[in-house]
Amino acid sequence: MNNKEIVAKAIFEVVKDDLTLAQVQGLLENPKAADHGDVAFPAFALAKVYRKAPQQIAQELAEKIDGTSFEKVAVVGPYLNFFMSKGNISQSVLAKIISEKEHYGDAAIGLGQTVPIDMSSPNIAKPISMGHLRSTVIGNSIGFIMEKIGYQPIRINHLGDWGTQFGKLIVAYKKWGAEAAVKADPIKELLRLYVDFHEKAETEPALEDEARAWFKKLEEGDEEAISLWQWFREESLKEFNKIYDLLGVSFDSMNGEAFYNDKMTEIVDLLEAKHLLKEDQGAEIVDLSAYDLNPALIKKSDGATLYITRDLAAALYRKRTYNFAKSIYVVGNEQSYHFKQLKAVLKEMGFDWSDEIAHVAFGLITQGGKKLSTRKGKIILLEKVLMEATELAKAQIIEKNPTLANKDEVAQQVGVGAVIFHDLKNDRMNNFDFDLEEVVRFEGETGPYVQYSHARAMSILAKAAFMPDAMAVYSLQDENSWEVIKLLQQYPDTVLAAADKYEPSVIAKHAIKLAQAFNKFYANVKVLAEDEEKNARLALVYAVTVILKEDLRLLGLQAPEKM
Ligand code: ARG
Repeated sequence: MNNKEIVAKAIFEVVKDDLTLAQVQGLLENPKAADHGDVAFPAFALAKVYRKAPQQIAQELAEKIDGTSFEKVAVVGPYLNFFMSKGNISQSVLAKIISEKEHYGDAAIGLGQTVPIDMSSPNIAKPISMGHLRSTVIGNSIGFIMEKIGYQPIRINHLGDWGTQFGKLIVAYKKWGAEAAVKADPIKELLRLYVDFHEKAETEPALEDEARAWFKKLEEGDEEAISLWQWFREESLKEFNKIYDLLGVSFDSMNGEAFYNDKMTEIVDLLEAKHLLKEDQGAEIVDLSAYDLNPALIKKSDGATLYITRDLAAALYRKRTYNFAKSIYVVGNEQSYHFKQLKAVLKEMGFDWSDEIAHVAFGLITQGGKKLSTRKGKIILLEKVLMEATELAKAQIIEKNPTLANKDEVAQQVGVGAVIFHDLKNDRMNNFDFDLEEVVRFEGETGPYVQYSHARAMSILAKAAFMPDAMAVYSLQDENSWEVIKLLQQYPDTVLAAADKYEPSVIAKHAIKLAQAFNKFYANVKVLAEDEEKNARLALVYAVTVILKEDLRLLGLQAPEKM
């Protein structure tokens, strides 16, 4: 139980006849100042019921309330301020974490239900961008968070492996490309061809027609087109997989847009059967004016299907295959219009489950305040970022802990962790400017700081050879412990809030606060002093290792034991 629940229950026992438990809970407040206690109840809510002055009600309540869970219950004007009993709470929180370990905070809300998470989804023949990095790490973390509350996450990489750009690429490759050059550095060369195509097409519009024709061939299964497309795809995937390996991310499905090529006639047929398709200058559209949206373009005049057509097929396929409770799409905010249209078309088709589709959007990463664009060749190479972060982590480790055994492994966990944490620590909708120096900072509110705090706590336990005992009573009263205990106590609610908002930053912020509170505790309290609270302090340190590690896991970071 959290503090509000404990307080609500105690008040409810007294006011049972006049208020429900939920009403009492709804009235409780978090006092702003610490000397006003942990939870406050404004008694004026009861003034009408009892026809008495709020101050008097507060006074009477304070006298009747069962005080076992509280250090004191103070009356301040019309307010009742509850000071939780630190001893009681620390006892129950520590006992719970010691017995449940990393399962502390688990919930059964999603039991037996699946949640597909459309994440990462980079485009073949293009470098994986910072936006795709965001989608990958946010989606991965949401997967762990949803799993913690019982759902089965299904991580889907909806690869951009279909569409007119493949017509362009085939044309460019056939005209100006060479096999050896692609083999040597696939993405760089394919990107060069793609950028070239756009430059040349500006003065030579006929190239666009050729590209359209080649995409048409691809859609129809032309052998040459297919084999080139397959090759581009394989070479690109090899590069993407290097990054996924570094990040430690894996997928349950790699079904990209191409997978839906043979599933789009059904979509078009369904739309037709419901009389939703309209002709517009030879193209097929769905009118969405009832939703205040522009029409969705389903089929071009040359018969080619579009991004949204493939997303319609994918949405239906996911419903049929996974019978999802929620279907999540972790895609940049700039595509929010697309997802509004997607949901509206599905709704028009009579699929009420479209309400369960959630576009989990995120802000832009800029550099020097400017947008990055693949087409203009302005990109940040992710693999390079991860490698450099790892190098910097290694330099730090060599300096701080030269005898550490598995330096390279830890350096990678810390370097990559720094990049992931930097991305997840702010509300996902915030834009941020990319600055490598800032990403690999190890002090302050960073992943390495949390990892380091965890390793430090581990080393204290090792030094004391401490083994927590699930039957023992560990009770702490001091202020420094209390700050840590409160954060541990809040953990189950923190997990629920993160899941509810699809917001990994809620977990990241909890990790930072817990690491800070722990470091303050460690600086002010003699953990290993030989007195009767020694074991209780060590139990607290143990609980901190469990929860910091779990916070890190939910974010997709490793927690090295030594660093
Ligand atoms: N490949 C797309 C892009 O890079 C993202 C795909 C997102 N997922 C989806 N189902 N539309 O912009």
